Amino acid sequence: MKKRFLRDLEVSAIGYGCMGLSHGYGAVPERSESIQLIRQAYDMGCTFFDTAEAYGAGDNERLVGEAVKPFRNRIVLATKLHLNKSEGDTAAVIRNHLEASLKRLGTDYVDLYYQHRIEDNDRVEEVAEVMGELIKEGKIRGWGQSQATEDQIRRANVVTPLTAVQSEFSMMERIFEKDVIPACEELGIGFVSFSPLASGFLSGKYTKSQTYTGDDVRRVITRFAPENVERNQPLLDLLYDMAWKKKVTLAQVSLAWMLHKKEFIVPIPGMRKVERMEENFGAANVELTQDEYERLEMELTKIPVYGNRTDADIAKLRNM
Ligand SMILES: NC(=O)c1ccc[n+]([C@@H]2O[C@H](COP(=O)([O-])OP(=O)(O)OC[C@H]3O[C@@H](n4cnc5c(N)ncnc54)[C@H](OP(=O)(O)O)[C@@H]3O)[C@@H](O)[C@H]2O)c1
Repeated sequence: MKKRFLRDLEVSAIGYGCMGLSHGYGAVPERSESIQLIRQAYDMGCTFFDTAEAYGAGDNERLVGEAVKPFRNRIVLATKLHLNKSEGDTAAVIRNHLEASLKRLGTDYVDLYYQHRIEDNDRVEEVAEVMGELIKEGKIRGWGQSQATEDQIRRANVVTPLTAVQSEFSMMERIFEKDVIPACEELGIGFVSFSPLASGFLSGKYTKSQTYTGDDVRRVITRFAPENVERNQPLLDLLYDMAWKKKVTLAQVSLAWMLHKKEFIVPIPGMRKVERMEENFGAANVELTQDEYERLEMELTKIPVYGNRTDADIAKLRNM
């Protein structure tokens, strides 16, 4: 697969978001099947794997760590820590979280270590300083922030240059194009798009009669509410039109659009089927012409997106 850089870390142009193998999208595959999927992703050229301590309460890190063992040193392994406001001494807390992640992953370094959500705005610089120390010690190769504001990115980057910012970005969620993505460009920081297919919506394979069970976040994501599936159809029509002309799929057009936008953007879709991996990783070879890209950009400005921002919907889960 083609390669890209997140500051100085070289990764495949499309990474693998491994969360859904343990958490967030309902029933999970058998563990052996998940390990197989991750190894098949590597065989398809994927060298960027994303997990977090929070996914499946540590199970996802164990799973990913075991799966990547045969090629551990040839990939970029990313994980994330949650730093709760109530937790004390920043350095000690981060080190404890990292040690626990390393143990679960079965490795002695993390390539890219993110702060998952920034709950304590006052500690941004302190966190950045600790991350800098961990880089010097060789425990992590680079660090990142997830769903950070432009201000948090700039403040952190002064202390220890950020390798990447990971935030939600897709044709249905474009808020970070206003300030965060331009700031990443200016500062030489990579941008990793999570939920690049808007939880699968942009593949066009989910109908209004589809139901979601268990811990599947689409139970609360209002873009998947039957009335909004209907109202968001013009977006899928636009994708369908371009996909039909280029003989590719809707998901591939969505991913190719963000790859075309900036060379420092790396999407990490989540998939639990080989054919979806082939489809999504195959998007790295789908080139949009400048005319096609501009047409999509122009049409997208005319199409409203129905449903809330995902974060607002997911917050509801806490009260369910
Ligand atoms: N930093 C954060 O706060 C944060 C938050 C959310 C996610 N993440 C990371 O980002 C990764 C990706 O996010 P995501 O999983 O929400 O991404 P996504 O790719 O937008 O959504 C994944 C869902 O879409 C479906 N899907 C993917 N490709 C498809 C295709 N070609 N056709 C039909 N359906 C398709 C998947 O189905 P199947 O799984 O059933 O195949 C899965 O249910 C996560 O795995 C995680 O590592 C980070």
